[in-house]
Amino acid sequence: MSRKKTESKTSKFPSPTNVLILGNGGREHALGWKLKQSKHVAKLYFAPGNGGTSGVGGLGENVDLKIEPVNTKHCDAIDYFVRHHNVGLIVVGPEDPLAGGMVDRLQKYGHRVFGPIEAAARLEGDKAFSKQLMRAASIPTAEARVFTNLDAALTYVESRDTPVVVKAAGLAKGKGVIVCDDNEQAMAAVREIMEDHAFGDAGNTVVIEERLSGQEVSVLALVDGRNIFVLDPAQDHKQAYENDTGPNTGGMGAYTPTPLMDDAMLTEIERDVLVPVVDALRRDGIEYKGVLYAGLMLTAGGPKVLEFNCRFGDPECQPLMMRMKGDLFLIMNAVIDGTLDEVDLSWDKRCCCCVVMASGGYPGKYENGKVITGIEEAEAAGDGDVFVFHAGTTRDKDDQVLTAGGRVLGVCALGDDLKDAQQKANAACDRIHFSGAQFRRDIGYRVM
Ligand SMILES: Nc1ncnc2c1ncn2[C@@H]1O[C@H](COP(=O)(O)OP(=O)(O)OP(=O)(O)O)[C@@H](O)[C@H]1O
Ligand SMILES: [Mg+2]
Repeated sequence: MSRKKTESKTSKFPSPTNVLILGNGGREHALGWKLKQSKHVAKLYFAPGNGGTSGVGGLGENVDLKIEPVNTKHCDAIDYFVRHHNVGLIVVGPEDPLAGGMVDRLQKYGHRVFGPIEAAARLEGDKAFSKQLMRAASIPTAEARVFTNLDAALTYVESRDTPVVVKAAGLAKGKGVIVCDDNEQAMAAVREIMEDHAFGDAGNTVVIEERLSGQEVSVLALVDGRNIFVLDPAQDHKQAYENDTGPNTGGMGAYTPTPLMDDAMLTEIERDVLVPVVDALRRDGIEYKGVLYAGLMLTAGGPKVLEFNCRFGDPECQPLMMRMKGDLFLIMNAVIDGTLDEVDLSWDKRCCCCVVMASGGYPGKYENGKVITGIEEAEAAGDGDVFVFHAGTTRDKDDQVLTAGGRVLGVCALGDDLKDAQQKANAACDRIHFSGAQFRRDIGYRVM
């Protein structure tokens, strides 16, 4: 792992520029928060943004630009906005526009865009493609078969005598993976995806793979086409309730670094997973630039790749941004220019814990429009170590912050160790109130 700390070349950016961030989650708020610290950034625009990215004391301005689906009309509107608002960098946060070719299109207009092109984002957007590529590059991953025919998939499941995981190959907002205990569940999962089209066209192809077991770790890297810089590993908590019980969610919290992976293991992951995947793409003429995220399971037989994502994870991004010391604007530009070896990529040694406060009922039914109080008090009591990132929030005409989604806030705290960070984050959550709020107090418990 190369962790160079050379002085950045700033002369490339003689005057500050505005930045447009596409997305509306906690991830985008965190990226904006970090970008705003750069002396090269003047103003931030968010499309569509949330209650934390605009408003009094907000970070910037929310603008009414559509980012989905990726089409000429929407891209023309973004292009027009960018040309008229001195935007020198566009950051694409979520996977859907990336997989839909947003970066390719905006680059064609001549803009500087952070994120992988469509062909590279296929690593996330098409699990069959990604499995194929891993197999060809001998990257450790679960054994799998790919099906486009319902009967063939059902016959295969019937013949299995160990549990499987059934995955819709396309993007399904994080819901397209069904971990099954037995064949009956697996058959039902196959039918749900291929027959009932629960995830639409994303389920036209399914990947059926062996069910692995072990702790999960997220390894994110910045890739500039030539250089790979591995970030400190993170662990997220997908299940709704404490002790990893309850339904699967978009993520109820995350912390970094995690002791589950030391530097030697990270070096191995870089050598055995990240380098081979970037090389395999390059052999097909595809240059990877952006964040490459490997979701790994630490099995008895060593780490295995569960999936690739082509962007920062949400909520992993939030604690990572809290610990990043360098200038994110320069780092993103270095990714675009292939000069990652020239920027400061050092990290705060402390641990950061992010606790997600969600709406009551999430991930099932929940109500929006609940007044949120205590955010500023929670930050003030944290003495600079606490920051609250907004996700599902909005502001009313009086600038009051209201809930507007399942995952509402990402409450982050830095601490000397994980226990300290977790305690501070939980204490901050206790100062924040909205009707029905739920959160897990045990983020990080698996290693404590
Ligand atoms: N082979 C496997 N064995 C056991 N569990 C698995 C396997 N594959 C996936 N899982 C479980 O399912 C979860 C989701 O799988 P995966 O990461 O492939 O889906 P995803 O929808 O792309 O997720 P994300 O929203 O994080 O991108 C994993 O975090 C893991 O807990
Ligand atoms: Mg994924």
